[in-house]
Amino acid sequence: MLSDAVPSLRCPVCQGPFGLRGAAPFSLKCVAGHNFDAAKQGYFNLLTGKGTVFEADTAEMVAARNEFLGGGHYAPLADAIARLAAPVLSEPGSLVLDAGTGTGHYLHTVLERTPAAAIGIDISKFALRRAARMNPGAINLVWDIWRPLPLADHAVDAIIVVFAPRNPPEFARVLRPGGRVVVVTPRNGHLKEIADRTGMLSIEPGKDERLAESMQEFFTAADSVQLDVPLTLNGRDIADVAFMGPAGHHLERSVLLTSTAAESSVRAIAKFTLSVFTAPEGRS
Ligand SMILES: C[S@@+](CC[C@H](N)C(=O)[O-])C[C@H]1O[C@@H](n2cnc3c(N)ncnc32)[C@H](O)[C@@H]1O
Ligand SMILES: [Zn+2]
Repeated sequence: MLSDAVPSLRCPVCQGPFGLRGAAPFSLKCVAGHNFDAAKQGYFNLLTGKGTVFEADTAEMVAARNEFLGGGHYAPLADAIARLAAPVLSEPGSLVLDAGTGTGHYLHTVLERTPAAAIGIDISKFALRRAARMNPGAINLVWDIWRPLPLADHAVDAIIVVFAPRNPPEFARVLRPGGRVVVVTPRNGHLKEIADRTGMLSIEPGKDERLAESMQEFFTAADSVQLDVPLTLNGRDIADVAFMGPAGHHLERSVLLTSTAAESSVRAIAKFTLSVFTAPEGRS
């Protein structure tokens, strides 16, 4: 339920606790009176003041992601994320944070398999319109992961980060002792067959090493799983998967759709690493 996650939220202006007010679309109001009304789709925009310099995913990129993920191509990845997060989400009252939730696709699978309450954060309001529909029981927040998170200390049991930015010091602050972070990154050669055709950005080498390095100050590396998902894609799928990633900022969707229209049954392999990090037990 929406209200289950509210006690873990903190007002970004004064750090006070929030209460949920009114009826849908609700408001979040802190004890000092700072008020954030939900958008009509149900998400809350907590970003105030000057806009962030980050280039958020566009409505078209989000639509492409929704189409592709809705096709079930990455179902084995959603299963693996849920399996790795579930051990710390078995209790009712546990809380999962999806950092860079996008359309809420992976969080949806976690919520199908566990009794957890949920918070989704993304900087793109286009993404959150979808996420709010996908996960109506979660609190979906427009927020910048690079900023201090609007969450209480040690309030979260699991954080999932799927192809999205990480803020290790803040993840460490909001995670409870023994809590875990599940990070998904693409591996070298991820969808290479599609990258060659579409101008999709290829994966920079050393991504996994940089992830481990950025997390090691705060977390223990507990597990690392390499998952390969064989895909058979048609032209529309190819255009969507190319456009939903960072290349979507540089490519024209209509040009992509035209250039891939004749394709059918193209085989490709999606290559992921799922890294699990745990927060130390017994710290203050
Ligand atoms: C490649 S998408 C992945 C979305 C989702 N996790 C998924 O796999 O379907 C990256 C997401 O991170 C979001 N994002 C990028 N930078 C962000 C930031 N600084 N704060 C919050 N969200 C951010 C984007 O808007 C986008 O929805
Ligand atoms: Zn406040």
